[in-house]
Amino acid sequence: MALGGDCFHLPTGCLEAGESVVEAFIRETVAGDRRVVITPAHLAWFASYFHHPAATLTHTDRYSCGPCERVCAMSPSLSGPAPWRAGPWEREHAASILAWRHAGGGLSQSQLSTLCDAIGDIIHQNVTDSRSADEVAHAIMPTRHHCDSLDFTTVGECLAYAMQHVADRYGRITQVLENLLRAGHLPIRKRRLTVLDVGAGPAPALYAVHDFYDDLRAWVDDAGQSVQIVSATDAHPLDRGPAWDRVLHQLSEQLAVVRGAAGGTLPFARAYTDLKDFSVRDAHITSRESAVDDVIADFDRLDEPVDRRWAQIFATEESKQHWAPSGYDFIVMANFLTNIKITDDFADEISKLGRSLTPGGILVAIGGTGEQYLEVWPKLDAILRVPGLIKLDNISVQMQANNDLSRSRLIRTHISDSISSIFELCTDDVRRAIEPVARKLPRAKYIELEFPQFQVQCWKNQAHQPSRYHTRKISEPSPISGS
Ligand SMILES: C[S@@+](CC[C@H](N)C(=O)[O-])C[C@H]1O[C@@H](n2cnc3c(N)ncnc32)[C@H](O)[C@@H]1O
Repeated sequence: MALGGDCFHLPTGCLEAGESVVEAFIRETVAGDRRVVITPAHLAWFASYFHHPAATLTHTDRYSCGPCERVCAMSPSLSGPAPWRAGPWEREHAASILAWRHAGGGLSQSQLSTLCDAIGDIIHQNVTDSRSADEVAHAIMPTRHHCDSLDFTTVGECLAYAMQHVADRYGRITQVLENLLRAGHLPIRKRRLTVLDVGAGPAPALYAVHDFYDDLRAWVDDAGQSVQIVSATDAHPLDRGPAWDRVLHQLSEQLAVVRGAAGGTLPFARAYTDLKDFSVRDAHITSRESAVDDVIADFDRLDEPVDRRWAQIFATEESKQHWAPSGYDFIVMANFLTNIKITDDFADEISKLGRSLTPGGILVAIGGTGEQYLEVWPKLDAILRVPGLIKLDNISVQMQANNDLSRSRLIRTHISDSISSIFELCTDDVRRAIEPVARKLPRAKYIELEFPQFQVQCWKNQAHQPSRYHTRKISEPSPISGS
C-alpha cells in the first residue's frame, strides 16, 4: 500500500461481482496483494474502521462513508474488462513452462545443483576435524529413521539431517508446485508472497517455493509475457529445534554467495519456535502492535506526542511488509505429521492454520506411505474441515519422489558424496561402527536407486474474502476508542 495522489485506487478488475469496497480492500491489502494507493484520510478512516470494536469487516454497505463512495465512483473495474485470472493463465501455459524447465531452459537445474553445492559448503565450514565429523556421523542413522525423537539442539544433528534430506524434500515440494501449476491452483501474487513451513527443519519447502517462483518469473521474461509475479517475499520457518537457526543462516548465506542476486527472500533463522499454541493471527497482531509501539517510542525520543491512531497509520506505512502476515499464501507441513499422536496433539493449531490462508492460498502436507499414515491422513481431513477450505483431490495423490532421472541422480550423488566427506574425517572407530550400516550399496548402485513413493495432501482456501476467523483477527484488538 502506498500514499499518493488524492484518491483511493483499486486496480482494474479489483472489485469482484457483489463485493463491497471494504471487502476488496481487505482482500487486496490485508489478506493478499498490496496494490492500493490511499490517502492519509482514507488510511485514517480504514484504521478507525478496523479497530472499532463494533465494526464488522463483512459490511456490504458500499455508500456509507465518504472514502467508500469515492472509491466506488472511481473504480474502473465496475464496467472494465474481465479481470486477469491466475488459474486459466496457469492452465494455458503450464505445459510450455514445464517443458522449458525440464529441457533446462530455466533456472531449475542450476537451482538444484547450487542447493546441493551450498549444503556441501556448509558441511565443509562446520565439519573441520574428527570430533565434528564423529558428531555428524553419529547422527546419520537417527536422522534417517528416528527424527521424531530428536530435538535438533546440535549443529551436527542438523547437518546430518540436511545432507540426507534437504535436496530430496526440496525436489518433492517442487513436484507438488508443478502439479499446482498444471491444475491452475498455484497462488500468483503481485506484491507479497508469504510462505510458512511448519516443522521446517532445514526448510526445504521454503527453498523450493523460493526457487519455483524465481523460475516462473524467468519464464515470464523469456516468453515476453506481461504478467506480474512476485517472488517469495516472506519465507517463515516454524521449528522448535534451536540449532536450525545456524544451519538456515549458513545455507541461505551460501546460496546467496553461489547464486549471486536472486529474486526472493531466503530464510535466515526460524521465524517461530513452536507449533504449540501457535496462531498466525496472534503472531500478526503481536508484530503489528509492536510496530505501533516502535513508532510511539520514536516520537517519544523526539519529545513529540503522538496519538495511537496516528502511530498505527505511520506504522502501517513504514513497516507493513515486515509485519508477520495475517494470512499465508502457502502453508507447508512436510514430513512433520509422521504419526497419529503429533496429529492429535496439534489438532487445534492445525485447524487454525487451515483458517489462516489468504484467498486462493494453499496448505500442503506431505509424508510417507507407511502404515502409520493410514490414521494420520483421515485425521487431518477431519481437522481441516473448515469453512472455505476445499481438498484438492487431483493434487492429493501418491507420487514417486524425484521421478526425473537427472534430478534424482544429482540428489543421490550429493547425498553419497556428503556422507563420504564425513567418513573421510571421522575417527577410525566411528567409521568402522557406522559406515557399514549407513552405506549398504556401492556408490554407483546407490546413485541409480529410485526414490520412494510419497503422499501429498493439499487444500485450497476457496473463499474470495478472508474467513470470519481471519477478519475477526483484524478487528479484535481495540487500541482506539470508538470513532
Ligand atoms: C522430520 S523433520 C521435517 C523437516 C522438514 N520439514 C523436511 O521435510 O525435511 C520434523 C521437524 O519438526 C520439528 N518439530 C517437532 N515438533 C515440533 C513442534 N512442536 N513445533 C515446531 N517444530 C517441531 C522438529 O524439530 C523437526 O525439525
